This record gives sequence, C-alpha cells and structure tokens, in this order.
Amino acid sequence: MLETSLSMSRARAEINTEPGAVGPSAVPLTLRINGTVRTVAVAPHTTLAEVLRGPLDLTGTKIGCDRGACSACTVWLDGLPVASCMTLAIDVGERSVTTIEGLSDGDRLHPVQAAFIEHDAVQCGFCTSGMVMSCAALLARNPHPTLDDVKAATGGHLCRCGTYPHVFAATLAAAKPGRG
Ligand code: FES
Ligand code: FES
Repeated sequence: MLETSLSMSRARAEINTEPGAVGPSAVPLTLRINGTVRTVAVAPHTTLAEVLRGPLDLTGTKIGCDRGACSACTVWLDGLPVASCMTLAIDVGERSVTTIEGLSDGDRLHPVQAAFIEHDAVQCGFCTSGMVMSCAALLARNPHPTLDDVKAATGGHLCRCGTYPHVFAATLAAAKPGRG
C-alpha cells in the first residue's frame, strides 16, 4: 500500500516536471475571436465554450449538453464548424474563432441569420446560434446545397422545439442567387 502511494507520488512529480506541462493554475492565452485579439487567463481544462461565455462575455454561443451531443455550442475554427464544448481553449492556438456575434457585418445580418428570421426558424432559440453557424458554413463551402446537403450539415444539431423544416427552408432560401 505504502509502495503504491509512493509510486503515485513519484508519477505525479514526473507529470508536473514534464517539459511544456502547464496548470493546474491559470495560464495566459491569446485568442483570435471575430477578428479581434483577446487575452484571457484560464485553467488548462477550460473549454472554448466556457471562455466565450465567461471571461469574453460572448453569450450567443450556447451550452446545451456540454458533452458533444447537441451542437448548440457550434462555432467556427478557421471557418470549420466545431463543438466549442469539446474544444479546450488552450488547444485553439493560432486558429481564428468565429462566433455568432462575428457572423454579421455590423448591423447587416448574414443571409442565413436574415433567412432564419424570415422563415420563423427560431422558437426558444437555444439551438439557433449553433444551427446558424453550421448552415452558414455549409453555404460558404457549397453555395448551392440540396435539401439533403442541409440535412447533413445540421445532422448533429438537436432542436427540442422541432424547427427543422423551417431551418431547412431558411438555409435553402439564403442560398438563392441575389440573396445577401
Ligand atoms: S453543448 Fe456542445 S455539443 Fe452540446
Ligand atoms: S428552437 Fe428551441 S431548441 Fe431549437
């Protein structure tokens, strides 16, 4: 028993002296968020979602399940949708983060945001920012999606209010030539 606890102490000491190891106390991070450089100091286990909603006060990103199952927390990393609850802030590095707050151009809504309003694709709104981020990313890589493409892009998003048909219609409408 004593030997086991001595081994554990030795293992912990080895972990803590490993070159490049950080924590458990807060570490300074520089993040590129919506075109602005922001600095924060957070514990290494802090997720990007927690940093956005906490010290950065960007509460448009929602946390639903906090375990990668609902996609409510979707943001972009270098333009690709990711679950921010499953991304450690310390792992973001040089990649640029785009949140729902960074999607519009000043007061001018992104076409997907405008279409969500026009097509009544919002009920409680809890899933909405994540849905918009995934639909906008789809249009960025495929300006002429089919209904199946939209369904695939939103496949990981859970909407308890059942807005899916409105989300699909809004995204297809936003893709139409002449929109935006
Ligand atoms: S809150 Fe991140 S996937 Fe559900
Ligand atoms: S609008 Fe309520 S969960 Fe989607």
